[in-house]
Amino acid sequence: MIKDSYIKTVIEPHKIKSVEPIKFTSSEERAEILEKAGLNTFLIPADDVLIDLLTDSGTSAMSSRQWAGILDGDESYAGSRSFFRMEAMIKKIMGFEYIIPTHQGRAAEKILFSIVGGEGKVIPNNTHFDTTRANVEFSGAEAIDCLTAEGKNPEIIADFKGNMDVARLEQVIQEHGVENIPLVMVTVTNNSGGGQPVSMANIKQVRAICDKYKLPLFLDACRFAENAYFIKLREDGYADKTPMEIAQEMFSYADGATMSAKKDALVNIGGFLAMNNDELATECRNLLIITEGFPTYGGLAGRDLEAIAQGLEEVLDEDYLHYRIRSTTYLGNKLTELGIPILQPPGGHAIYLDAKRFAPHIVPEKYAAQSIVCALYLDGGIRAVEIGSVMFGKKGKDGEFIAPPMELVRLAIPRRVYTQSHIDYVIEVVNHVFQRRDTLKGLNIVYESPMLRHFTARFEYAD
Ligand code: F0G
Repeated sequence: MIKDSYIKTVIEPHKIKSVEPIKFTSSEERAEILEKAGLNTFLIPADDVLIDLLTDSGTSAMSSRQWAGILDGDESYAGSRSFFRMEAMIKKIMGFEYIIPTHQGRAAEKILFSIVGGEGKVIPNNTHFDTTRANVEFSGAEAIDCLTAEGKNPEIIADFKGNMDVARLEQVIQEHGVENIPLVMVTVTNNSGGGQPVSMANIKQVRAICDKYKLPLFLDACRFAENAYFIKLREDGYADKTPMEIAQEMFSYADGATMSAKKDALVNIGGFLAMNNDELATECRNLLIITEGFPTYGGLAGRDLEAIAQGLEEVLDEDYLHYRIRSTTYLGNKLTELGIPILQPPGGHAIYLDAKRFAPHIVPEKYAAQSIVCALYLDGGIRAVEIGSVMFGKKGKDGEFIAPPMELVRLAIPRRVYTQSHIDYVIEVVNHVFQRRDTLKGLNIVYESPMLRHFTARFEYAD
């Protein structure tokens, strides 16, 4: 990292060896494409998207060393060399005894909660990600979010808005009975709460409560490296520690982790479960064999394991993390300077537009955030994702509409994929949509599936 104070530009800590063209479309073409997709950007072919900010998951650009690892991957069914390399890397960072590969994060969740979940059980978390909640609930258990109050307010600027409300956690344990809580979970960073980090002090407090009630603590570790870097930047006593040392300390307070390698392992597919409990690991492996595969590959090819091992090493590089967090902040700060309302402060992997303040004239049941998503595509070929009334809106007993607390548009930044000029383009397009915000129209849903409707719903503009 170049620390001279006159340097303001965040340069990418890599150069480009291989490029992938992106397609430019005319506004007439985009109007037709969006119309055909029923105003749902999930239904647009990716080739018709110019800048794809739908997710940071599985969309990372791999390094030349990862690609070299792909060729070097050992495809042995049992005892693959690539598994041992991945296992050693995870043990170095996380310190857990048992490492169980899975094809992605939700497969790790499915295995874990099939075993520890079930009717009458309760899982507390700062905020469950949707697949985590779905896997907890699918097992028959209840998923309870215990996020601090400041984490629920999009306008407050605070350092660690992903923190667990520890008083609420203790209340949940007492209300439901310690015997009904198989484990406590903390998601780092808190994706559903805006990519906000959790402090080391908070992880320690959660650990103390887990010790008091003899409960295991698991981290949902998808974005552990970004969380570690926020701790370095913001928490007293960590400025001189390396991201590796901070990550090691974070995991030292936990008994296990679920991980989607599609985020902070910088790969396109993969995940794992990690833990210290011998009996639980045996049960997980038994379930793994019938659902994912043999314990040394778990639903992945040997080459994927090799790429994960290499990615985990690269993601803790300080120059990478400096660039990663600074470039997301750059997007957030530029939008804020233009008066565009975003969830504050900028998160690690994404910027969230606050649709309630962006387009206050559109009521929640007319889907303001989805209307902004459509406008970003129409005006600039940018694909974002709605996290609001389409995704989480519910119907009450009498069919009345129940809106979720926040109405957001997530601009997730794929790792190492876009350059600053792509991001400058995004800023121009968002600003253009913001300048014409009074012209944005609400939407009606004309088709929806009974579950996870956001993926397939079709809309039309309301009058
Ligand atoms: N936990 C968190 C915090 C996540 O953000 C995700 C995925 C998962 C678990 C599940 O992992 O996709 O590998 O099965 N988040 C993606 C997103 C899909 O777009 O935020 P997975």
